[in-house]
Amino acid sequence: MDFFKDNIVKPVSWVLLVTGIMFLVTETLIAQKQNEKPVYKDAKAPVEERVEDLVSRMTLEEKVQQLNQLLLGKNNNPNNLGRRVERVPAEVGSLIYYSTDPVFRNIVQRKAMEESRLGIPIIFGYDVIHGFKTVYPISLAQACSWNTELAKQACSVAASEARLSGVDWTFSPMIDVSRDGRWGRVAEGYGEDPYVNSVFAVASVEGYQGDDMSSMNSVAACLKHYVGYGASEGGRDYVYTEISKQTLWDTYLPPFEAGVKAGAATLMSSFNDISGIPASANHYTLTEILKEKWGHDGFVVSDWWAVMQLERQGIAASRAEATQKAFEAGIEMDMTDKYYEKYLEKLVQEGKVSEERLNDAVKRVLRVKFRLGLFDNPYVPEKSEEKRFLLPENLKKVEKLAEESIVLLKNKDNVLPLKKSLRIGLIGPMVGGKEHMLGSWWAHGEDNDVTGILEAMQAEFGAENISPAKGCDFEGEDASGFAEAVELANKSDVLVLCLGEKRTWSGENASRSTLALPQIQEGLVAELAKLEKPLVVLLTNGRPLDLSSIEPYADAIVEMWQPGVVGGTPVSKVLSGKVNPSGKLAMTFPYSTGQVPIYYNMRPSSRPKHGKYQDIPTEPLYEFTYGLSYTEFEYGEIKVNTEKFKQEDKVSLEIEVKNIGQRDGQETVHWFISDPVCSISRPVKELKFFEKKLIKAGETVVFKFELEPLKDLGFVNSKGDKFIESGDYYIIVKDNKIKLNLE
Ligand code: NOJ
Repeated sequence: MDFFKDNIVKPVSWVLLVTGIMFLVTETLIAQKQNEKPVYKDAKAPVEERVEDLVSRMTLEEKVQQLNQLLLGKNNNPNNLGRRVERVPAEVGSLIYYSTDPVFRNIVQRKAMEESRLGIPIIFGYDVIHGFKTVYPISLAQACSWNTELAKQACSVAASEARLSGVDWTFSPMIDVSRDGRWGRVAEGYGEDPYVNSVFAVASVEGYQGDDMSSMNSVAACLKHYVGYGASEGGRDYVYTEISKQTLWDTYLPPFEAGVKAGAATLMSSFNDISGIPASANHYTLTEILKEKWGHDGFVVSDWWAVMQLERQGIAASRAEATQKAFEAGIEMDMTDKYYEKYLEKLVQEGKVSEERLNDAVKRVLRVKFRLGLFDNPYVPEKSEEKRFLLPENLKKVEKLAEESIVLLKNKDNVLPLKKSLRIGLIGPMVGGKEHMLGSWWAHGEDNDVTGILEAMQAEFGAENISPAKGCDFEGEDASGFAEAVELANKSDVLVLCLGEKRTWSGENASRSTLALPQIQEGLVAELAKLEKPLVVLLTNGRPLDLSSIEPYADAIVEMWQPGVVGGTPVSKVLSGKVNPSGKLAMTFPYSTGQVPIYYNMRPSSRPKHGKYQDIPTEPLYEFTYGLSYTEFEYGEIKVNTEKFKQEDKVSLEIEVKNIGQRDGQETVHWFISDPVCSISRPVKELKFFEKKLIKAGETVVFKFELEPLKDLGFVNSKGDKFIESGDYYIIVKDNKIKLNLE
């Protein structure tokens, strides 16, 4: 018996006991593991760990869905919200979101969070180009303010209105250097110069993203259109571009590099081909430059249908091939084509696209979602419209930006500012054209929120002093309104002509063959000029204009661009003198359309004194940085701490500017360089720095530029490497020039 007990029962009991304990421990561990929050859901874990953990849990199908962007309806009809939400796959990576309603956004997001297996939030994107509800001046106008701080503030106003309405990501800024005003999209960028586009790229990224992208006042930025879109031949939209590697590096890439360095979360690929390789299938720009050289770790979204268009551009024989080419080149998210959704999975299964590339793409998208705080805070507060939109403090900020964007182009015999007692005839199609003040891409801006020119002028000068007449339409041949305009003009002391472009004449797919205003508007000017009354032309437009037929008749010309909801208020304050204009052109106004493309930083001609046009002047009408003030500034000599320097030295430059007029005014000083002899032919002038300051009447202010030789005097070669060569350089400010020497 004892033998049985000792040799059989005891060992068996031990084994049972140990097995039981092991079983219990394992079960507890499993239960614990199941209850444990996965790392990707742990708000305290570092973003990279969360990304890795999440990707390791995802199926192929789930990964592909993250790279897919769909549209979420056009209207906000509450009656079919349910059906619209049903159509959204819970696993979709992104939606283009057209609503302003945070409640709707939260309903859709709840579906992703609660009905998808892993609870991955959707990123909601939208074109918040120059304002969401509080629409502010178009980017081309902003550049003319030379005030990056105001532009940054405007972007943060847009960011806050958008985020609180459910948008996490804006498809902005557009930083395509553009030099052909026939291209409608010049309105959306910051003009003809790479440096200006670069500094405004940085300002807008900072304004949109703030210090912390997860804040409810920030959105993720998207640098677009990567790259070279602005070189569209003949100003035609969507076409090819012919860009040498040298020009790519020195003209089109710098704004993108600056935006990436400022932390832009995403980029959008462009529609053009770059000398034969479409930008949306371009491994060199999308991967070798953007990811490998610049180290961008966010993602690239294709522009609308850009993947599908690879077939039309003749580099893909099928949809699957277009998908493969775009994806392998470096586009992570497919905007609205549904090609990635349909073909990517199979391409991976067939081994045509590597899992490594797929994982990298998914990680890039998730990284941005984590940085936006979408996993920890997927929903937005449901505030009323009054608490989100058109807040008085925000309107003040954008009004200031609009004031500083206005460029006074002509002011013969100081006809401006106008005395308050004058009888003003306010004439032209723009008098009643409130909606055109919004420009293209007005997002959720509403015509009714715009202060029209008539209202603004009445408020500024007194209703009794302002009488309106339309005169003619924006285009067409109907001159029957001229008589009424002439009658009004006869009773007026001064004529203010409100001319320009409809908002649909610029923006995407809005090219024009001429920069001149339609003949009917030019005819109205000529007709009224016969009366020999002081004639002031106010221009509202989205591109530089050919003013050759209007300028000779005008005593004053004021370029107010498309200012947004503040409409006519800033310009009426300029006309009354309450605001002293301080804008300067960020894009050259040609003498006439035949000069286009024309820009200040052209390379030197082989015969500068020859090669002129036989029929028109060779110089533009108003050059880059041109703009008048109601006061006058006198520039001193450029001073430098050393005329000879080495590459590692810093060179300190300064210039005194005196306000010799009667009014306070703001002046922007532009510092250009030129390199007369180099191993490549360099532009005649290149802008390297600018600064805007207030100078009180009678005062002198010193402007300084700390020059860093390699950065400011060097050049990039066609491989993107920065060089500097010894020899002479010129520093140019206005008409002043000094020679420096690098040993
Ligand atoms: C096409 C435009 O080119 C791009 O700028 C815009 O962001 C997308 N459509 C989305 O609307």
